[in-house]
Amino acid sequence: MALAEPRARHARSRTAGGEPGFGVYVHWPFCLSKCPYCDFNSHMRHAAIDEARFVRAFAAEIAATAERIPGREAVSIFFGGGTPSLMQPTTVGAILDTIACHWKLAPDVEVTLEANPTSVEATRFRGYRAAGVNRVSLGVQALDDAALAALGRLHSAQEALDAVAIARATFPRYSFDLIYARPEQTVAAWRDELGRAIAEAGDHLSVYQLTIEPDTPFAALHAAGKLATPDDDAGRALYDATQEVCAARGLPAYEISNHARPGGECRHNLVYWRYGEYAGIGPGAHGRLDVAGRRYATATEKNPERWLALVEARGHGLVVDDVLTRTEQADELLLMGLRLAEGIELARYADVSGKPLDPERIADLARGGLVETTPQRRLRVTAAGFPVLDAVVADLAA
Ligand SMILES: C[S@@+](CC[C@H](N)C(=O)[O-])C[C@H]1O[C@@H](n2cnc3c(N)ncnc32)[C@H](O)[C@@H]1O
Ligand code: SF4
Repeated sequence: MALAEPRARHARSRTAGGEPGFGVYVHWPFCLSKCPYCDFNSHMRHAAIDEARFVRAFAAEIAATAERIPGREAVSIFFGGGTPSLMQPTTVGAILDTIACHWKLAPDVEVTLEANPTSVEATRFRGYRAAGVNRVSLGVQALDDAALAALGRLHSAQEALDAVAIARATFPRYSFDLIYARPEQTVAAWRDELGRAIAEAGDHLSVYQLTIEPDTPFAALHAAGKLATPDDDAGRALYDATQEVCAARGLPAYEISNHARPGGECRHNLVYWRYGEYAGIGPGAHGRLDVAGRRYATATEKNPERWLALVEARGHGLVVDDVLTRTEQADELLLMGLRLAEGIELARYADVSGKPLDPERIADLARGGLVETTPQRRLRVTAAGFPVLDAVVADLAA
């Protein structure tokens, strides 16, 4: 699809929730093993990875992207995966140097690296810090050894806590991820586990409800009746407990699954949710680029070796490079922005879409207590609306 559409006027606009800014996402597509619940673009390889070859390919793709969107100032760089903490610190440093050669970096640029909390990976933390990483996001997932084993994780709860302690001593900021609504999980046990986790948390915590993703081993077990996840009521009780415990401990949700102390929000994710501009670099990375008044949705080849071959042949691994229509942009803005507690600016929606959101639909949802409009003319989802966010967005979307 390559529709000729009017200018993407929103990308530079300032919102009451803050300037979305520009971010760079770098994908490292390898893991030591594949967790049975995960459908991220991650691959296992038995032979050693030729990191020098990847560094050259990342550099080529960064250069090609910067040629399309020169002069940007990055507020955030995010190494995601897969397992970026399997990269050598020199690899991370080389990629950061290339990014800094092609774009400006904001003085307070956030540089995050996702890490698996095994002891081997924690030994590399000082190297990442020296390379310029200033925030780490650890996949703790659970503080219960039986649950970690059931999730197929390669670390124990103690190893995860040790990695958190090393992260705290090494980086100015850190976050970690937890997964709840696990098989057999009770609200009482989750409250206890979450409380213990918060005692170890810094300024940010991501708390995801387990999703059974299609084509994963968990999906097969679930379909065969061998994986009993909480039903809707139990899931809702676990969600409510999450909100209550996190808020009471100073980490309210600023997004449906993300909690932060004020000022501790992940700037990179805010770029996505505030519908800013971002470059996606590496296998299976997505981007949104504003070029000559048009907004492009980009995606690269997912398979690491095929991505390498494409980049080596033509300088980039793009397999999707579509102009988004105003309606598509408006739907994306809605889908992303309503995940945030701050919601969206109604004027910005109208600017992107070319027409305002339907006042009747807003009024209907507001009467049901699911959304509210603030005096600053922002639309946001209420505490009652978040558990049914998908339905709210579907109702409002163009
Ligand atoms: C790219 S992954 C993880 C990074 C790192 N490889 C790790 O596993 O620690 C980002 C996060 O998504 C979450 N996640 C992945 N699959 C999930 C699923 N099916 N349901 C809920 N959360 C999931 C996990 O909390 C994970 O830490
Ligand atoms: S959860 Fe993390 S370690 Fe596990 S397969 Fe997914 S990306 Fe890899």
